[in-house]
Amino acid sequence: MSTDTAPSGKPMKLVVTGGAGYIGSVCATRLLEAGHSVTVVDDLSTGHEDAIPEGAEFVHGDAAEVAETLLGQGFDGVLHFAAKSLVGESMQDPGIYWRGNVLTSLRLLDAMRTHGTPRLVFSSTAATYGEPDTGLIPETAPTRPTNTYGATKLAIDHAITSYARAHGLAAVSLRYFNVAGAYGRFGERHATETHLIPIVLQVATGDRAQVQIYGDDYPTDDGTAVRDYIHVADLADAHLLAVEHAIAGEHEIYNLGNGTGFSVRQVIEACREVTGHPIPAAVAPRRAGDPAVLVASSERARTAMGWKPQRADLAGMVADAWRFTQDRKQANPA
Ligand code: UFG
Repeated sequence: MSTDTAPSGKPMKLVVTGGAGYIGSVCATRLLEAGHSVTVVDDLSTGHEDAIPEGAEFVHGDAAEVAETLLGQGFDGVLHFAAKSLVGESMQDPGIYWRGNVLTSLRLLDAMRTHGTPRLVFSSTAATYGEPDTGLIPETAPTRPTNTYGATKLAIDHAITSYARAHGLAAVSLRYFNVAGAYGRFGERHATETHLIPIVLQVATGDRAQVQIYGDDYPTDDGTAVRDYIHVADLADAHLLAVEHAIAGEHEIYNLGNGTGFSVRQVIEACREVTGHPIPAAVAPRRAGDPAVLVASSERARTAMGWKPQRADLAGMVADAWRFTQDRKQANPA
């Protein structure tokens, strides 16, 4: 696959929206390490200013509002991470998601068009697929999101496809499965934590008494839900490739996962082994909208972009998240 404006390896001037968040901060760090220049735009509604990597410029504000003027300075591309991403909240207050995710992204697309910003990498999600029929999920699987969060990300994907076709935008959407692990001083720290691995690690630090297993009556080997965990640094590497491989007028969509499923019980067991903590667990009712099994086929990303995840080992991801959790705890004792 060839590139249109910036040959592979040439430093680019990039905007990273949501660069103070978990995935955005790791991607911004990797982009800087690869020699690109990075301007982080973040309203700090869920991100943290101290998570913006050294070497990045920072503009505080709403992604779309800032982009409307900032992009006039001339950028090679935008990596758009800024979004609302809590599935439960998206069901209770969908307007926050339609406005915050879809409207913001449309305004960003228009700003890119106005200022001639040539390339976009968008954070999409496995939640666009909903409950899969069977097996590994390819990009050609039907998109039937079971929650508003996934529906808003899918709507943005559709908008990007039509902007690419009509206006020559070079675009790539990356559909993340379950992102885990940490990179350097950058990791997962949400004010409202809903994700399995950080919650389990809060039990290991003593900040939570036990973990609840949301359902043990799924049609899986041990009855608990199965997910495809991917290391955040491997995910970041895919963004580096995507920004270089984007082709004018085309919108490529790639799933990012390791193609291996781990059950909730297997994740808890991995956390017990890594932390040495017994981690008490209790079975609770299923969480609304949770599919039984979500595992990616990432063949397209591997074949088309040459993406090679290096950190597929679940215990390794948990170990990195655990080191990050302990470092934070030591730096900020409660
Ligand atoms: N789980 C528990 N107990 C908990 C937390 C989670 O049993 O305390 C279970 C969930 O029910 C699920 C699994 O652990 O079966 C993983 O849950 P996460 O919340 O960590 O992740 P999800 O699979 O629900 O969500 C992830 C992303 C979403 C995205 C979704 C798409 O975090 O943003 O994948 O598949 F929408």
